[in-house]
Amino acid sequence: MIVIENVFNEQQLLQVRQWLQHATWDNGLVTAGQQARGVKKNQQVTAGSKVSNTVEDLLLDVLARHPAFISAALPLKIVTPMINRYLVGETYGLHVDNAIRVPLNSTTRIRTDLSATLFLTDPANYDGGELEIKEQFGSQKLKLNAGDLVLYPSTSLHQVTPVTRGERISVVFWIQSMVRDNEQRSMLYDLDQSVQSLTGTLGHEAKEVMQLSGLYHNLIRKWSDT
Ligand code: NI
Repeated sequence: MIVIENVFNEQQLLQVRQWLQHATWDNGLVTAGQQARGVKKNQQVTAGSKVSNTVEDLLLDVLARHPAFISAALPLKIVTPMINRYLVGETYGLHVDNAIRVPLNSTTRIRTDLSATLFLTDPANYDGGELEIKEQFGSQKLKLNAGDLVLYPSTSLHQVTPVTRGERISVVFWIQSMVRDNEQRSMLYDLDQSVQSLTGTLGHEAKEVMQLSGLYHNLIRKWSDT
């Protein structure tokens, strides 16, 4: 699980909140899989609407230029982001996300390796509404600052706990990674982080940096599908 802070800056958050004032909201069940039907109670901005497309364009543009996101996700394809809203009493109970998603107006099938939530609401403005992710060694509850993003393996059981005050808006989306295996992807991320920090201290022409950087690229060559 990786948290990336300030994916949207203050100005972008303000812009997105302005766009959302013109949004129409559908019942969240329209995109729920079989397993999710019983536990999903929220709303989402109409898929394919102008507001939805505008937020999506901004997000994809930001992500395409975001080194930490690229290093952590090694994205091959990103599935159409959905903007979700939870009002008081709304929740999304324990579930595992669908393995395959088909973007709107498309026949492409995208395998979900990573799930992502970008928080849009200031945590001071609502109670409850935590994203709880069950991991091998226990569970973690997240309530990130507006603009922050969490990436977690789509294999994880997770839920959004009921909102008890205010409203919680976030963008959720899925990534098919060039490296499908979670452990391999996670090791590549650690290696890349080490290369970045060594580059900072030794410079990118240092022998060790070049060797490790070569190792990073050769592992990607070995493990990636494009
Ligand atoms: Ni989910």
